[in-house]
Amino acid sequence: MFNGPFNCGLFQKAVDKGVVKVDVRNIRDYTHDKHHTTDDAPYGGGAGMVMKPEPIFEAVETIKAELAQKEITDVPVILMTPQGQLLTQAIAQEFTQYNNMIIICGQYEGVDERVREHLVTHEISIGDYVLSGGELAAMVVVNTIVRLLPGFLGSPESLISESHTDGLLEYPQYTRPPEFRNWAVPEVLLSGNHAQIAKWRKNQSIIRTTQRRPDMIERES
Ligand code: ADE
Repeated sequence: MFNGPFNCGLFQKAVDKGVVKVDVRNIRDYTHDKHHTTDDAPYGGGAGMVMKPEPIFEAVETIKAELAQKEITDVPVILMTPQGQLLTQAIAQEFTQYNNMIIICGQYEGVDERVREHLVTHEISIGDYVLSGGELAAMVVVNTIVRLLPGFLGSPESLISESHTDGLLEYPQYTRPPEFRNWAVPEVLLSGNHAQIAKWRKNQSIIRTTQRRPDMIERES
């Protein structure tokens, strides 16, 4: 499941350049029974299954011990869950401070509460909807953080004006040709007047954000 997003395009390039290293572990490898059991019925009854604590603790503690051998300690342990803090650009930016992180992908009805209480340092949700597992969410989180790292983007300036970086959506972009099917590129962009262009873009950003995401404008003011 992780192969596509982590093994093509810019992400693969980042891996090749050593900007990021991803190490995917299978929780079943940290079980000790014949059936490699990772889930069980919830105490108190109810629908669905709950992920058992033992394999998750063993997996995370094994990884932590491996990192400790390289003198890497205080690694954040992030649980992907729809109950977590909503992922934003600001949170992704905050996570770039860590050189290492362990991400746990929740499954089924969730994980045993003792994992949250005694192992996890952060809980992250990628939106107010429920996925069938935390894997896609983990890939979204990793992608969002890694593209902010030095060496990921060919032109890191593109990070400065993109949507959500300054609390506004990005202005409309155009490229050649100057006229396509009778639709012309706004004159100002062809003018070469950088002050005017900057003013137009800022204005467009504000209009766009007000129309599409009034909640973002309210949050800023
Ligand atoms: N697992 C299931 N749904 C999720 C979500 N919205 N965010 C993070 N992890 C999840």
